[in-house]
Amino acid sequence: MTPKRRLRKSQQPTLAAQEAQAPYLAGNETALLFSSAELAATGNRESAALAIRIFKRANRPIASRTARTGTFIDNLKLPVHRWFRYSAGFSAQWVQSVLVENKSRSLFDPFAGSGTALLAADTFGIASAGTESHPFVHRIAQAKMGWDFEPQELHTAANELTALAKAMKPVLAREPESLITRIYSPETLGKLERLRLAHGKLVTQDYSPEIINLLWLAITSILRSCSFVGTAQWQYVLPNKTKSREREPLAAYQEVIAQMLEDRSRIRLEGWSRRSAIVAHDAREPFALGGGRRFDTVITSPPYPNNYDYADATRLEMTFWKDITGWADLQQTVRRHLMHSCSQHTAAERLKLADLLADPVLDPIRKDLSIVCQQLAEVRLTKGGKKTYHTMIAAYFKDLAHVFYNLRAITAPGATVCFVIGDSAPYGIHVPAEKWLGELALAAGFGKWRFEKLRDRNIKWENRVHDVPLHEGNLWIEG
Ligand SMILES: C[S@@+](CC[C@H](N)C(=O)[O-])C[C@H]1O[C@@H](n2cnc3c(N)ncnc32)[C@H](O)[C@@H]1O
Repeated sequence: MTPKRRLRKSQQPTLAAQEAQAPYLAGNETALLFSSAELAATGNRESAALAIRIFKRANRPIASRTARTGTFIDNLKLPVHRWFRYSAGFSAQWVQSVLVENKSRSLFDPFAGSGTALLAADTFGIASAGTESHPFVHRIAQAKMGWDFEPQELHTAANELTALAKAMKPVLAREPESLITRIYSPETLGKLERLRLAHGKLVTQDYSPEIINLLWLAITSILRSCSFVGTAQWQYVLPNKTKSREREPLAAYQEVIAQMLEDRSRIRLEGWSRRSAIVAHDAREPFALGGGRRFDTVITSPPYPNNYDYADATRLEMTFWKDITGWADLQQTVRRHLMHSCSQHTAAERLKLADLLADPVLDPIRKDLSIVCQQLAEVRLTKGGKKTYHTMIAAYFKDLAHVFYNLRAITAPGATVCFVIGDSAPYGIHVPAEKWLGELALAAGFGKWRFEKLRDRNIKWENRVHDVPLHEGNLWIEG
């Protein structure tokens, strides 16, 4: 379906059809608790009837909506959230339920990722701010937060981009054996390259930055589905696996644009109000928000201490856009801006364990942390990979200790802080993340903490690398 056809009024679904067809309406009740009041206030009879039906649904108990905190899957049914599948993200509906239960008036997310929490706040019109230091991920969030775009402008720009791409001569400006040439057929790559170059041309035209970012997001979001190799979303690329079906780039791109236009009209009905802001900032550095701003709620999920490399996870997309030329660029371009949660990072920086452990912010946990890090320093010598988990773990807690101090400076007394976290066991040595983070939060000036376990991890796989039971859950910090 082309964007033009999408826009024609006669073809837009009725309100009733929208309610019946939109799966997200059923799940997005919490947002609608608020937006239904605004809908009713429009004075339009049809809108008011829809508002009443929505309100009835919304009055189901909140407990039924709080499951699956830690997964992005449910967001794929939600407008705007579904524009980019960020597997590291958490559930927007869960964020909404916390905001409601907490009667939040303001929200901060220091590890904003793809913007889930900030967008959840927009559904209620709650003021929110967040930081994200991965340049590529920050751009994803920023693009999604331009959800209140002017539909006609996106429609025109998207069509112009398509026309420019189609009119372009075939181009292939890639090294023959590079990642990008290995994961696309020549025909698909030719089309993707033309979309990329056409986007570069549009940047110089008179479109707003929001529209340019949305077009960038539309192209970015199809890159994996257009490849014939294994490219599960947000995973490292798997060149030795193949997919049963690869998408045709122009059709896939147009589908995403149509989805954006469709969501734009739906969220207008829902009454979203944009009061969010995201800054490209390293949460280990003090937050410069200005005006002594204080937040009553923090909902966030930092990287876990589990060696997941957020930089490598975006290698496909960043290489495609020529933000990097290869794996070696990731340290300078991405990792150095991130907190330490993978051994590639600490190895590249050649961090010294004694220096890390000497940081006064680690006072409350130094004894236990030192024992674990020392064990890791010894075990690594017996392993082939000799991974630098000992410095990774020390640097991880040091980084988050600084984040807690920074958060204390921008949170109101009595604030509620929720960190979605998981523990880990590198080389089979358990790292009690919630306990240590709870203690670090108290040292930074918060009043109390408790851990709400949500699920077990590492208990089923037969080929798991160790058998230490792990878990994931919410670390609630108050005061
Ligand atoms: C678990 S993800 C958060 C996902 C987010 N809740 C969502 O739903 O999209 C953690 C994020 O923290 C970011 N990050 C890592 N180090 C950071 C730092 N020092 N400052 C700010 N963000 C950082 C990563 O790039 C990643 O996007």
